[in-house]
Amino acid sequence: MDYNAQYQAYLNTAETALAQQADRCFNERSRVCEAARYSLFGGGKRVRAVLCLAVCDMLDGNRNAAACYAAGVEMLHCYSLIHDDLPCMDNDDTRRGRPSCHRQYDEATALLAADALVTAAFEVIANAPLSAESRVRAAACLAKAGGARGMLYGQELDKKYEQEKAGEEQLLALHRHKTGALIVAAAELGCIAADAPADRKDALNRYAAGIGLVFQIVDDILDVTATTEELGKPVGSDEANDKTTFVTLYGLGGAEELAKQNNQDSLQALDPLGADGWFLRELAQQLLQRRK
Ligand code: IPE
Ligand code: IPE
Ligand code: MG
Ligand code: MG
Ligand code: MG
Repeated sequence: MDYNAQYQAYLNTAETALAQQADRCFNERSRVCEAARYSLFGGGKRVRAVLCLAVCDMLDGNRNAAACYAAGVEMLHCYSLIHDDLPCMDNDDTRRGRPSCHRQYDEATALLAADALVTAAFEVIANAPLSAESRVRAAACLAKAGGARGMLYGQELDKKYEQEKAGEEQLLALHRHKTGALIVAAAELGCIAADAPADRKDALNRYAAGIGLVFQIVDDILDVTATTEELGKPVGSDEANDKTTFVTLYGLGGAEELAKQNNQDSLQALDPLGADGWFLRELAQQLLQRRK
């Protein structure tokens, strides 16, 4: 199978799992759940889900469990985007080519829709078709990555450096938490679904940390170089919010160079996997070159 066909196959698996799990976790009478569905469906590259599925696949793991873990990480990611767009955060009116959740509904509904998603993420993991030990490890992994030592702390730093200047060290820490943590968790969830040996886990962890960093550097570049139509979210949001990014720190060329260097590090981490790493290698390349 070629890369695009394989990505599409993982995407289909992720969409099916998300639809099934939304039916299971949401309350059909609830307007909050309608808003959660609005944000969860109809767009999204599903990079984290694809990464989880691809890692599990490469390691010959349990695909049905990986589909649940993939759905869980996407639900948590989607919650983070709803909160990220709120007026008290980035105050962005569009997401995935449509009004952001609080613009389509209202702030209270959006806040609660995000809460519904983050709790559903853990329900989905708790009910995955694998051993209790695997599910506990998966839940602990996602909680740590999404919480106060992971994504949430990154969002805290992101707000902090609207007010204060950040240097390279601070910005690296910000990106690793805000975006890297969940991407690393996605790969780790794939490893958990496959009960991966330690050496594989270490290599995949290094790979995912590299692409996680590249992913946010590219996100910062696209905020300056892309169009709103391409991105489906407002461009110039970072500047409007006085964010410190690698683009403000080093300029576009410097940020692009840093993304390339980190991509090289990610690819190198895959060396021990040999030919088995083909899809992850191409994924890294695509994430470096993406325009949305
Ligand atoms: C956007 O994530 C937020 C960041 C962490 C940079 P994605 O670019 O993965 O957004 P979707 O899920 O494809 O919309
Ligand atoms: C968001 O970073 C990271 C999250 C944890 C949601 P950004 O604020 O740069 O993401 P976009 O550009 O709005 O998608
Ligand atoms: Mg933000
Ligand atoms: Mg934002
Ligand atoms: Mg951004």
